[in-house]
Amino acid sequence: EMSPLPENTLIGMCNPLLDIQTTVEKSFLDKWGLKENDAILCDDKHNDMFTELTKDFTVEYIPGGAAQNSLRVAQWILNSPNRTVFFGAVGKDQYGELLATKAKEAGVNVQYQINETVKTGTCAALINGTHRSLCAHLAAANTFTQDHLQKEENQKIIEQAKYFYVTGFFITVCPPAIIQLATHSAEFNKTFTLNLSAPFISQFFFDKLSEIIPLVDVLFGNEDEAAAFAKAHGWETTCVKEIALKAAALPKKSTKPRLVVFTQGPEPVVVVEGDKVTEYPVTRLPKEEIVDTNGAGDAFVGGFLSQFIQGKGIEASVACGSYAAQEIIKKHGCTVPSVCKYH
Ligand code: AP5
Ligand code: NA
Repeated sequence: EMSPLPENTLIGMCNPLLDIQTTVEKSFLDKWGLKENDAILCDDKHNDMFTELTKDFTVEYIPGGAAQNSLRVAQWILNSPNRTVFFGAVGKDQYGELLATKAKEAGVNVQYQINETVKTGTCAALINGTHRSLCAHLAAANTFTQDHLQKEENQKIIEQAKYFYVTGFFITVCPPAIIQLATHSAEFNKTFTLNLSAPFISQFFFDKLSEIIPLVDVLFGNEDEAAAFAKAHGWETTCVKEIALKAAALPKKSTKPRLVVFTQGPEPVVVVEGDKVTEYPVTRLPKEEIVDTNGAGDAFVGGFLSQFIQGKGIEASVACGSYAAQEIIKKHGCTVPSVCKYH
């Protein structure tokens, strides 16, 4: 018999990836056809890039994967273990073990689906100046199947959880698993949250994304992702506030008003609740304190959800999101200081 989960448990589902982080010149990005500030999935032509990176560069291996980053950050703020549970697929190898160890150390209850034959996924995080270009090699993460959620122990976890957070990135992997969690959430009046994750999701996976949107209670994204979402809808605007209003007003299964939360780097966070727009200013970090922004968006979501799942209001949730993002910007990758001073 499994002990009951802590109250208001948050389940996250996404690709668990090990980030291979290094600093590169613009010419390296050009050589591999990468933009300065983007997140894409790699294709076969990038295999040699990964080889070159590990051979010719000094790289850091940092636990990554968007939702896993957010959950680690949420745990850091909540400071009590197992408030979050993570689903995703890894290989049976050193990288997978490293990811599990780091997640557990942070207090995340990881429930990986383990693939015996495919390697744990990686993500090249290529820093150039204050920008970063991400190129994900999903590998085992791409083999996640819905049966993992059907397992008895995971069914129990899902039944007891109150909040769900899935990334748009996971739409490239297993839409049926997303629909399952989102449908369950709507049926039991729980809260299902989704991140737009990257422009390519709206560009190339718009049909799948559109099937999920009616089940989404809280939608996260940054300004580029908002613009790509608008473009895919044929909305002729790049105004983040207008896009947020339109996204909030899209058809919805349950009667709960949809919340849309769009970040814009140092510019104000735009929040739409139903038909009301609010802008929350961000305290600018002085240039010399910015190490790299990799993980800023993920940390924002982690901080936001750490408060939101406790029933704190939107203002408190945004404030904590901004706090968490700034702590991550002051460090390499999506890593947090050992002690959390947020109260
Ligand atoms: P990704 O998810 O792209 O990073 P991120 O967390 O979104 O970081 P960004 O730099 O893109 O931030 P943002 O633009 O979303 O947020 P914003 O700048 O608005 O990548 C990180 C992870 O993704 C990696 O670990 C990788 O493993 C993973 N990943 C990549 N591909 C994947 C895949 N296919 N599947 C799964 N995982 C994948 O900032 C947010 C907030 O930060 C702001 O609201 C503000 O509060 C604060 N902030 C930002 N800039 C400033 C500033 N200058 N001063 C003060 N505050 C600031
Ligand atoms: Na992001």
